[in-house]
Amino acid sequence: MSPNEETRILVIGGTGRLGRHIVAASARLGHPTAALVRDTAPSDPAKAALLRSFRDAGVTLVKGDLYDHTSLVRPMKAADVVISALGTRQIADQTRLIAAIKDAGGVKRFLPSEFWTDVDHTAAVEPARSTVYASKASVRRAVEAAGVPHTYVLCGYLAGAALPSVGQVLSPAPPADEAVVLGGGDTKVSYVAEEDVGAYTVRAAADPRAAGRMLYVKPPANTLSHNELLSMWEKKTGRTFLRVYVAEDAVLKMIRGGKNDSAEASHALGIALSIGHAAYILGETNFKIEPSLGAAAGELYPDVEYTTVSEYLDRLLPTGSSGRYLQGHKGVLTSLAALCCVLLCIFVWMLSDRISR
Ligand SMILES: NC(=O)c1ccc[n+]([C@@H]2O[C@H](COP(=O)([O-])OP(=O)(O)OC[C@H]3O[C@@H](n4cnc5c(N)ncnc54)[C@H](OP(=O)(O)O)[C@@H]3O)[C@@H](O)[C@H]2O)c1
Repeated sequence: MSPNEETRILVIGGTGRLGRHIVAASARLGHPTAALVRDTAPSDPAKAALLRSFRDAGVTLVKGDLYDHTSLVRPMKAADVVISALGTRQIADQTRLIAAIKDAGGVKRFLPSEFWTDVDHTAAVEPARSTVYASKASVRRAVEAAGVPHTYVLCGYLAGAALPSVGQVLSPAPPADEAVVLGGGDTKVSYVAEEDVGAYTVRAAADPRAAGRMLYVKPPANTLSHNELLSMWEKKTGRTFLRVYVAEDAVLKMIRGGKNDSAEASHALGIALSIGHAAYILGETNFKIEPSLGAAAGELYPDVEYTTVSEYLDRLLPTGSSGRYLQGHKGVLTSLAALCCVLLCIFVWMLSDRISR
């Protein structure tokens, strides 16, 4: 597969949070693109609109399911590359994709659903350790044992998963008055916009330089500490937030003893917190780029203009936020207005004095 050769790409999980950006990037870059979807005529208006946008971009929709082997093999026979963006619950079952790739015969590259830090080198705690991390690592081993050519795409926090709350792990929204920070807030954390992961992933999928290697997606301007992130947000909003620091011991206690209404909610809380612990306390999203194992996406594809954290935060500012910003600087603005009035009065007085002479 040379970079100039036409590469037919099949995306599994293309309707998901990340997958939709991979499908869009593949179509935008001109690859014949197919997306395996469970329902080609969904009743959910948002999903129907997404599929319409895929069709409009020339994407072929193929009805199929991870648990229906024949429905996987058929489109794989017409694909050079299979990219999986299956969600966390389906990670371990990607062995079914490997079996289908073997049966299809002609797939030249498989990118399993990774899109997080290096699962082979982690100090993450439970419950994420034996679920998310272990299942991604087991898929790697299955890919390698089957001899399937592959690329593993590593990245930090997806912007949409971390920035709407300005880095607060258990909150869906920006801080109101207080901002909760795991640890001391000085550990560096890497963020990347979903559309940029899509662009880099598709480029690597068709690039022989990424074959059998890691693709490290870590945009240089997007590694900053939680304290730096909050300061950036404070500057943009003209507000300050009380920072509530949760020490590591307390975080681990919350992970172990998370009491919630249901076992499922408690497990989800444990997963989110243990992932947050790995990022905000252990610093694992600030991974080292290991040249013997792979390459930095920004070096391989410097033409990709990635979204900076600052630009992403701008998208979150409510419309009319300039008004809120001005409100935050009311004192300075009042003084400036008073100074202008005084200068104007002096100017008028000098002018009238000159005229009267
Ligand atoms: N770095 C980060 O901060 C971060 C954050 C979140 C996720 N991730 C990782 O990114 C990857 C994608 O996660 P995501 O959150 O984007 O996933 P997601 O939104 O949950 O999407 C899952 C996709 O899989 C499809 N799917 C589910 N069951 C299927 C089946 N039986 N057969 C075929 N398709 C099926 C879904 O289709 P339907 O539309 O039919 O349901 C959907 O397209 C995962 O590896 C995840 O761990 C990373």
